[in-house]
Amino acid sequence: MKIEQVLDEIRQFLHIETPDAWIDEALKQQDVLLIDHANCEKKAATTAMNLLYKHIDRDDLLKKMSQLAREELLHFEQVVNIMQERGIRYRAVSSSRYASGLRDAVRKGGEHELIDVLIVGAFIEARSCERFAKLAPFLDDKLARFYRSLLRSEGRHYQDYLALAQQYSAVDITDRVAAFRQLENELIASPDPEFRFHSGVPSAA
Ligand SMILES: [Fe+2]
Ligand SMILES: [Fe+2]
Repeated sequence: MKIEQVLDEIRQFLHIETPDAWIDEALKQQDVLLIDHANCEKKAATTAMNLLYKHIDRDDLLKKMSQLAREELLHFEQVVNIMQERGIRYRAVSSSRYASGLRDAVRKGGEHELIDVLIVGAFIEARSCERFAKLAPFLDDKLARFYRSLLRSEGRHYQDYLALAQQYSAVDITDRVAAFRQLENELIASPDPEFRFHSGVPSAA
């Protein structure tokens, strides 16, 4: 599938686009962008690993999440390499409200929790892709090339998560996806004092 086609589907899935003000801020804070991006890759691998530990009886999930964890760790390594080339020191950066905001809406326990975690994973993956694509034209050649290469690798992650969510759900997940979409869109479109890879509209601190 062509990358433009994948991106169209991602944009339809997300409903709203990253605000231009976020792009402006990302270009001003490229060190924080890369550090937080590295953290996101690490966390994506961790999420996949946690699911591997919790759901040993679900064959498709085990295969997909194992593959995903490896890919995300490879991305992590690639981001760290770029940071080193640019002399950006890897330091502790607090996580954004985005992932925790989504995770707070996850129902606790059993199947419901699994379905919600998978849907949240889909949104985080999709938003990451949308941001890679929207940022790329403004970045230097090397970073632009890297972000476009990530798009090819990440482009199907959100669909993997969504497919697993529907597979393991006893009911149609459309309503649940819509509820998370509404929350996701609020987190993206509302003022956010802290710039991060998944932050909202930059507000003057
Ligand atoms: Fe990744
Ligand atoms: Fe991913």
